[in-house]
Amino acid sequence: MQTVNTLQMLRTALAQLRADGASIALVPTMGALHEGHLTLIRRARAEADHVVASIFVNPRQFGAGEDLDAYPRQLAEDAALLEAEGTALLWAPTAEEMYPAGFATNVSVSGVSDGLCGRARPGHFDGVATVVLKLFNQIAPDMAFFGEKDFQQLAVIRAMARDLDLTAPCAANIIGVPTVREPDGLAMSSRNRYLSPSQRTAAAALPRAMKAAITAIEGGAAVPGALSALEAAIIAAGFSSVDYADLVDPVSLGSLTASPTMPARLVVAARIGGTRLIDNMAVNAAKG
Ligand code: PAF
Repeated sequence: MQTVNTLQMLRTALAQLRADGASIALVPTMGALHEGHLTLIRRARAEADHVVASIFVNPRQFGAGEDLDAYPRQLAEDAALLEAEGTALLWAPTAEEMYPAGFATNVSVSGVSDGLCGRARPGHFDGVATVVLKLFNQIAPDMAFFGEKDFQQLAVIRAMARDLDLTAPCAANIIGVPTVREPDGLAMSSRNRYLSPSQRTAAAALPRAMKAAITAIEGGAAVPGALSALEAAIIAAGFSSVDYADLVDPVSLGSLTASPTMPARLVVAARIGGTRLIDNMAVNAAKG
């Protein structure tokens, strides 16, 4: 695996990979890789000739007071993991390479970016859309893989690809990969390492409570009552607050107040200690 950190090196390396008309899959990351990321790499390898991974802790998607400085950085360890999975090329630019002096463009996908995490983290999805569009233009992959763990992020990127008629990749080739979970059900996240042992144990109540809410909703319970019970269960488990617990349309992310017969998504963000955890699960998946 080759690691490159300038655009010029990236272009040379990509030209070599493409020389024989080979297809390229992109897996964008911020590093601190775990099994969830490695699952994306494996999916990408199965579907394209070459996998390009990026590691860039994108300052534009962190708000004031968020964990930009504390965000784990472990490039050598991550590079070894990517290499072991057969990644062909690692793109690891500096912030100056990604955002040279005078950088002034912001990509904003309204609507789908506004609610849920967008409400608690103003500007976050503009930062994500801006860097992902840059990555797409820098690499021009045939396909790109993102975790469903960040469900709203995936919806924002798909909307951007549709709205801007992207071709490399096109919206249909932005592929969402199901969330990878710890044995106790907690969704894997680079931020789980911020949890103390007791918080880590309590955190597993989040997916358990979500499953109970889904069983209730699929069984015909009224959505507002099921969501209130879900919030109460999360707080009872030791979380300090619930940013949101909502049942939404999987594409528009608009709230669904009535018990749906069509597929929907249960989405939650909750804080435990200083850590904000998010999770989402399919509702009525069998009816899709
Ligand atoms: O999901 C992430 O790790 C980031 O938001 C992404 C897509 C790499 C953009 O910085």
